[in-house]
Parts: sequence; structure tokens; C-alpha cells
Amino acid sequence: SNRAVLGPLVGSIDQGTSSTRFLVFNAKTAELLSHHQVEIKQKFPKEGWVEQDPKEILQSVYECVEKTCEKLNQLNIDITNIKAIGVSNQRETTVVWDKTTGEPLYDAIVWLDLRTQPTVERLLKRLPGKNKSFYKSRTGLPLSTYFSAVKLRWLLDNVEEIRQAVRDGRAMFGTIDSWLIWSLTGGKNGGVHCTDVTNASRTMLFNIHSLEWDSELCHFFDVPMEILPKVRSSSEIYGLMKSGALTGVPISGCLGDQSAALVGQMCFKDGQAKNTYGTGCFLLCNTGQKPVLSEHGLLTTVAYKLGRDKPVCYALEGSVAIAGAVVRWLRDNLGIVKSSGEVEKLAAEVGTSYGCYFVPAFSGLYAPYWEPSARGIICGLTQFTNKNHIAFAALEAVCFQTREILDAMNKDCGIPLSELQVDGGMTNNKILMQLQADILCIPVVKPSMPETTALGAAMAAGAAEGVGVWSLNPGDLTAVTWERFEPQINPEESEYRYARWKKAVMKSMGWET
Ligand code: G3P
Repeated sequence: SNRAVLGPLVGSIDQGTSSTRFLVFNAKTAELLSHHQVEIKQKFPKEGWVEQDPKEILQSVYECVEKTCEKLNQLNIDITNIKAIGVSNQRETTVVWDKTTGEPLYDAIVWLDLRTQPTVERLLKRLPGKNKSFYKSRTGLPLSTYFSAVKLRWLLDNVEEIRQAVRDGRAMFGTIDSWLIWSLTGGKNGGVHCTDVTNASRTMLFNIHSLEWDSELCHFFDVPMEILPKVRSSSEIYGLMKSGALTGVPISGCLGDQSAALVGQMCFKDGQAKNTYGTGCFLLCNTGQKPVLSEHGLLTTVAYKLGRDKPVCYALEGSVAIAGAVVRWLRDNLGIVKSSGEVEKLAAEVGTSYGCYFVPAFSGLYAPYWEPSARGIICGLTQFTNKNHIAFAALEAVCFQTREILDAMNKDCGIPLSELQVDGGMTNNKILMQLQADILCIPVVKPSMPETTALGAAMAAGAAEGVGVWSLNPGDLTAVTWERFEPQINPEESEYRYARWKKAVMKSMGWET
């Protein structure tokens, strides 16, 4: 057959909260050649609980890899050109499995899950001055339900099978990256138990300065260190694929999805930032080789370390728990739309929330408040309000939350951002992008290829030592074009609406006591 000659290709697994994707890029041009996507089930067994099936997640990865390879075959592209695979993943989500059977010992506790609130309160009492930021200088994080350590503590406290597996030396802990890499590289038959520095930095067991698991933190959370994965850089060969169409291909890139997007957006310089609109919304600003501690409710996180001997870079992060998830909620829980795409249409029909404000604090509020007592509210309703206004208010909520993060970021960094680079599924929504520019009062810019999370993991994989098919020099890539959204409303109106939003946020707090 007449196969297209393309040179080396790199595959990328993007395992997000809502869906799994596999994408294949041309390593010379960063062009996206083919991809496949599968939605992931979320279980809400009790109020505030969010779980996923680790086996379903793994199966979805295999399915996406196989389907993408079939599509490439149909395009007459030779899959033996795929030289490496990168992994990017939803962060913090916690899995414990049995290394002798390869089976998970409990469902994955998803980052959004709130069951650990009592665990957090109990731990807080043991910190001097009940200060939730006591370990912030070491971990970059406040004590919160969000991070893996408390989820793991809950599993050890509540699941006898896990305690037994720990006693027997059969238990392995990991975030989704570890679970996937271990399973894909052979699982119970010699799988590699590792994670990368970016994912490790979200557990609250990791010292972001020494880049090692911290024995004092493990002691504080009472977590046995022998169940933790080995921490590696974000770009090196971890192991080889053991089954499927890509058997034998090295897995050589690993980044938490938000770090991956920062890399994919080429934010390699100090002060460069991106905002990704996924299930949640995460604004990361590269602070270079020094970790900056926030005074305005942001996190300090490892941005990337692109090779064993390469320097580590840090980022300030503003995390918003609910962004795309509010659209999914309108679809699945209220049923006012049949598909996520319909929300844009509903919102466009009215072009205003008509004074309705929607604070989707389903999992409490994350940055900059870190307020677990908050719950969602829709306020400002009148008899005039209809589902269109509520859809509009839901989109506006995503934009207001980003504005709060941007304000905090500008205060911490000193130099205000003059425009915002964006990516993620929701950025296909033009109403949302225009609203965002209006509410921030700065231009919003979106790359022509919005799959930057997957691109970042592919870059890390392709650039790894021993693979070497991708150069990380941004100049080598074919020009990225940008779509720009300029602010169109006057700043006074914008400020007025933002002030109303803040009022609504205040009303959402203290609901759960
Ligand atoms: O910290 C959670 C984050 O990594 C999840 O990302 O894209 O699934 O919302 P996303």
C-alpha cells in the first residue's frame, strides 16, 4: 500500500475527569493526526462522594489506543512510526490496588470528592494553631479534601481489605498516572510503579523542594511509605507498553494534566500562564526555578521537570473545582439540555443572565477561598427567569471564578497578565470565550489546536532521553495561530457584575457547618 511518509509520531493519553482520549501527533510539526475519545462514568454514591472505576478508566485507555490506531490505518498512516507515548491525567484522584492480582481494592476517590471533610477536621486539630497552611511551605498546599493524602488516609481508615493488603505487602497506592503506567507496562507481571514530580506534588506527601516523599508528612498522615510509587522526572522512559496495537512502544512522558497544558501552551518562561477549562478550571503561571508561595489563596505546584538532569520548574496555581462540570450538571441533573453543546445555544438566545447568579460550589469552594462549607446556590431569581438565563449564569460563573483567580495571581506576581492563554474542551464555546474577555477586561487568546494537554504530554514523551524525536524548542514547531477575543463591554459594567457575583459567593459560604 501507499503509506504516507511522515517521520516520527508520538501518542498521548489524556485521562481527564470526564473523559479519556488518545491522540497521535506528528513530532516534527505538532500536527494532530488522529484521536479517539470515550466518556468516563462518575458515581455519586452519597452526597458529596465522587468515585470512578479504575478498571473502566484503564479499559477506556485501551479502547482509545486501539480505535485511534484503526483510524490511522484507515488514513494509511503507519502506526509503527509511533515512537513514544505520553500520559497526562486528572490529578489527586486516588487508587489503591493489589499488586498480586492487579485488581483495585476500592473505587478511585475522585479529586472532587468531599467525604474526607471529617478526616481533614481531625487532622487539622493536630496542626499547631489549627493552621491549615502549616505544611504549605513544604508542600505548596493547604490541608484540604482535594489532595491525595487525606483520601488515602480515609481508605486506610475505612476499608479493611486495604489495611489487610498493606499488612501483607500487597498494596500499591497511586494517582491515575501511576495506576495507568503500572497496568500498561505489565501490571501484576512486572508493571512499573512510578509517578512523576508534578503528580507527586498534588498528594501532600511530597516535599516540593527536595523532590522526595517526605517522611514527616507520611508520619503525619500515617501513610506507609512502602506503598508509594517511585518519583521520576516528567520526561524519561518509564517502561514499555505490554499489550495492544502499540506493544513495545516506550511510555516516556508523564505530567498531571494541568502541567501538561502549561507545557503544551509553551509557557516555558517565567510569568507565562494558561487557563484550562475542563471539568474544573485551572490557571497556572510559570514561576521558573523558584517556588513562589502565594499570599492570596493560590497553590504552589511543580510545573515540570523535563528530564532526569533537567531543572525543575514551579508554578502558581489557581484551582476552580467546577467549570465544565456545571454544564454536565445542567445536562444530567436538571436535564435542561440534551448535550453540552446546547448550553451555548440556550445562553446565546438571551445573551444575559438577567440578574441571575449561579455559584456552583458543589465541592465547596477551592481557590482563592478554600472554603469547604460552601454549597451551590442560584440566586437573583424572578418570575422572568427561565432556563436560558440559568444556562447563561452557569457560563458566567466559570468566567467569574477565573476572574477571582486572575486577581489573586496578579497580586502574587506583581505584574498583571495582559492577556490570557486558554485551552480545554469548553473553549470551543464562543459565548464563553467572549464573556471571559468581557469579565477579565483583557483579551483571551486560544490556540488553533486546543488539545494542549495532550500535546504537552506528547512533547515530554518525544523529547525523552533514548527517544529524542521531539525538540522542545518552540521555534521548531509550525506556527500556532491564535483566535483572539477582545473585551467588548465597558469596564464599569464588568465591575458591577463582578461585584454582584462576589455577593452571591458570600451567600454560598457557611451553608454546611
Ligand atoms: O486537579 C484536578 C485536575 O487535574 C482535573 O482536570 O481537566 O479533568 O478538569 P480536568
